[in-house]
Amino acid sequence: MEEQLNLAKANLKKDGFLKLKLDPSLNIIEEIKRLKTEKNAVILAHYYQVPEIQDIADYVGDSLGLSQMASKTSADIIVFAGVHFMAETAKILNPSKKVLLPDLNAGCSLAESCSGEDLKAFRDQHPDHIVVTYINTSADVKVYSDLVCTSSNAEKIINSIPKDQKIIFAPDKNLGKYIMERTGRDMLLWDGACVVHEAFSLDKIVALYNQHPGAKIIAHPESESHILRVASYVGSTAGMIDFVKQDNAQKFIVATEAGILHKMKQEVPEKELIAAPAKEDNTCACSECAFMRLNTLEKLYLCLKHELPEVTVDPEISKKALLPIERMMEISAR
Ligand code: 13P
Ligand code: SF4
Repeated sequence: MEEQLNLAKANLKKDGFLKLKLDPSLNIIEEIKRLKTEKNAVILAHYYQVPEIQDIADYVGDSLGLSQMASKTSADIIVFAGVHFMAETAKILNPSKKVLLPDLNAGCSLAESCSGEDLKAFRDQHPDHIVVTYINTSADVKVYSDLVCTSSNAEKIINSIPKDQKIIFAPDKNLGKYIMERTGRDMLLWDGACVVHEAFSLDKIVALYNQHPGAKIIAHPESESHILRVASYVGSTAGMIDFVKQDNAQKFIVATEAGILHKMKQEVPEKELIAAPAKEDNTCACSECAFMRLNTLEKLYLCLKHELPEVTVDPEISKKALLPIERMMEISAR
């Protein structure tokens, strides 16, 4: 076993997750629960995680909710069932905790579209602008940000900035365009996008809507403008779940990552929830984030058992990246 673990650790850098053979008789769910108590660990999961991970998590939420939970947890270990920027943000917010990510390759197309170096260069070209970044970025990018926002508070964050102050918004151009329309502010937009939300087909959504009269289309603001224009509600993952709970409609066409349907179905079992179709997708009616799906229950178990892979942030970078996140938290709580 010792030898197997050393080999797996050696491969961790390359593979991004521990590769160890599991005993087929092992009850993974029971073992995760036992290890969680033994190690005083908490499992935080995003709504895009596979159902079995959501079901074992201590908290399931959107990016803002997860950050808030990470910052106030008293657990010694945070197992972050989400993508890398989320685990990194948790580490920045609560640096004394050990933060684990079941698969280090769980990235994000938005985070990858913008490096700290490139953002710094862009910022230097526009010295009269302040920089607001979506939370879907690396710590290096947050270092060059004045303010961070999530999809649930982006409008509030932009509205908190004096009207005559010029703004760079990075990296999500779709969220940026949407916030420009909502606030009437002009912003310089970075050219990034979410691969999952850009995949939705307006034609297919409209065709689906025509087959389901009375259905309401709801969308995440990472979707393109033409999708958002036909939506009855636009908001974060948590906002979308709240909307289906309180709205009178009985059917919803849901334009975001399909993992959200698990929690939505639990919340409104009597309502019909239909995944919005993607452009190239002829076999399955859903859109899945390949990065989010890298985390599995098996990897989560191994990561909690061996406390690997761990997400770390250089303390100097962490200190600087914390400032715009704290500003966001403070404005968000107003
Ligand atoms: P929220 O859960 O904050 O709405 O964000 C969605 C997302 O794309 C996370 O990567
Ligand atoms: Fe990134 Fe899009 Fe996946 Fe969210 S759904 S983690 S924004 S690629």
